[in-house]
Amino acid sequence: MMTASYGDFHTDPKVIVALMLLKDKCPGEGFSCFRGKDSQVYDSFMSIGMACLNMALEARDIGLDSGIITPKQEQVRKILKVNKIDNVPLLLGIGYQDKKAFQKKRERVKLSELISSEFFGGKFDENRK
Ligand SMILES: Cc1cc2nc3c(=O)[nH]c(=O)nc-3n(C[C@H](O)[C@H](O)[C@H](O)COP(=O)(O)O)c2cc1C
Repeated sequence: MMTASYGDFHTDPKVIVALMLLKDKCPGEGFSCFRGKDSQVYDSFMSIGMACLNMALEARDIGLDSGIITPKQEQVRKILKVNKIDNVPLLLGIGYQDKKAFQKKRERVKLSELISSEFFGGKFDENRK
């Protein structure tokens, strides 16, 4: 976890999965995978995020904890011997969370503060049936 862009980790997990984007598979501008064209929506990076989340959910399903990490590219390429042209957007550490690990208090934001209705900024009625 020494390559993490931010975060403090008391120990390294037993397993770290590196999710990679290979330039020859995603040749578009910004690693776009849409037939070589730039989609302007970072499609390959979104796909990596989806794959990573599925791994995290699968891990949870079998009782394992995980943490998503954004590695510093230069460092992670060096450690994993990855070509300069390729990218490692995410690492997924898999293991068991320390029982005493700090957990920040999580409070749910009201849906009406998150969701718009009909148009961006349109009032969303949480009680709508
Ligand atoms: C795409 C993505 C990248 C992340 N990168 C890091 C990271 O580099 N370092 C870190 O400490 N946490 C990182 N996180 C956050 C943790 O993986 C984890 O999601 C977070 O601690 C969960 O709590 P929170 O989102 O409520 O803060 C990342 C999360 C996501 C979704």
